[in-house]
Amino acid sequence: MKEDTKITHAGRHPRDHFGTVNTPVYRASTILFESVEEYKKPKGPRDKRYGRRGTPTHFSFEDVVSALEGAHGATITPSGLNAVAIAVLAFVGHGDHVLMIDTAYGPARRLANTYLKKIGVETTFFDPMIGAEIGGLIRPNTRVVYVEAPGTQTFEMPDIPAIAAVAHARGATVLMDNTWASPLFFKPFSHGVDVSIHAATKYIVGHSDAMLGVVTCNKATFDAVRDVSDTLGVYAGPDEVYLGNRGIRTIAVRMRQHEVNALKVARWLQDRPEVKRVLYPALPQDPGHAIWKRDFLGASGLFGLVLNPASDAGVTAMLDGLELFGMGASWGGFESLITWTHPEENRTATKWSPGGPTLRLHIGLEDTDDLIADLEAGFERLGANR
Ligand SMILES: Cc1ncc(COP(=O)(O)O)c(C=O)c1O
Repeated sequence: MKEDTKITHAGRHPRDHFGTVNTPVYRASTILFESVEEYKKPKGPRDKRYGRRGTPTHFSFEDVVSALEGAHGATITPSGLNAVAIAVLAFVGHGDHVLMIDTAYGPARRLANTYLKKIGVETTFFDPMIGAEIGGLIRPNTRVVYVEAPGTQTFEMPDIPAIAAVAHARGATVLMDNTWASPLFFKPFSHGVDVSIHAATKYIVGHSDAMLGVVTCNKATFDAVRDVSDTLGVYAGPDEVYLGNRGIRTIAVRMRQHEVNALKVARWLQDRPEVKRVLYPALPQDPGHAIWKRDFLGASGLFGLVLNPASDAGVTAMLDGLELFGMGASWGGFESLITWTHPEENRTATKWSPGGPTLRLHIGLEDTDDLIADLEAGFERLGANR
């Protein structure tokens, strides 16, 4: 099956559900068995019937995400951050060491610096451009190498296959936050990743109206992740899962349009005198472009921007007056967003001093002429508040 067909059909079984196209919302805690024999029968994970272990609503979503990412199996979590936590906790314990990319999502860093530290797991943050030299940081007790590509504030593009090859040779498991690319534009398991993490809240749900996470695994890692999730009682409600399942059916058309729109806006921004640098690996001028082109199948709508030196009042006036760009911490929905980021506060192995304020834009599905006009008016306000 080709990818667009998989997205449309995987995990759907209308005949089992009154012919409904989408797998319905099953609300369940108690699930009844037909007989003592049925109740006692040895059970596979999906037959251990109890609401917390999932219903056809959950299985449908697990199956389509797994099919799209080429995974052995998937585990659903109530948020992307919980997906990060479950994935990491599946592979570390007291006395272990984690290598985490310096550009990891802020709360993933917090997990490392607080909870992991409390349970006796040490974390070393590494330069996203480290490549195969990561070998110099691997210790005998390094269990996990945690990457994100690109980092979603500064958009540096790590060489994941190079990092993964060294990590595997030294016995570590490679975990990746693949939210930026979505399951469509990066295939983690063919690039050396063992566990892929998604904030499904973003592109999978795609409409800014649900919190959801999902961890996909290869055969070697699946049981460990599922075991932690089962042990901790991790569960996402069926309405959220339904929205994830519905959202993913249109992910391909949305992602392709996000990419087209983002490239148009990014190219326009590159030529603006107010802009020092656009941080977007899909642009040929970006230092991460060659790796992106080699490993990725597309680029999402999220990228960064470094402005030429500007006053706080100028940046504030620019952002406050935008009419189409919303100001919000998330991304991945159909609508455009902008935020003023401070990546220097969130890294320790490397410095971020780009010589001007950093912004992050999520380019939605609006007409790009309108988005550009909105930004153009923003630049006028920036100029008027020097
Ligand atoms: C890259 C990345 N990973 C994980 C998360 C966490 O996802 P959630 O907000 O669903 O917990 C986010 C949220 O912003 C994110 O940007």
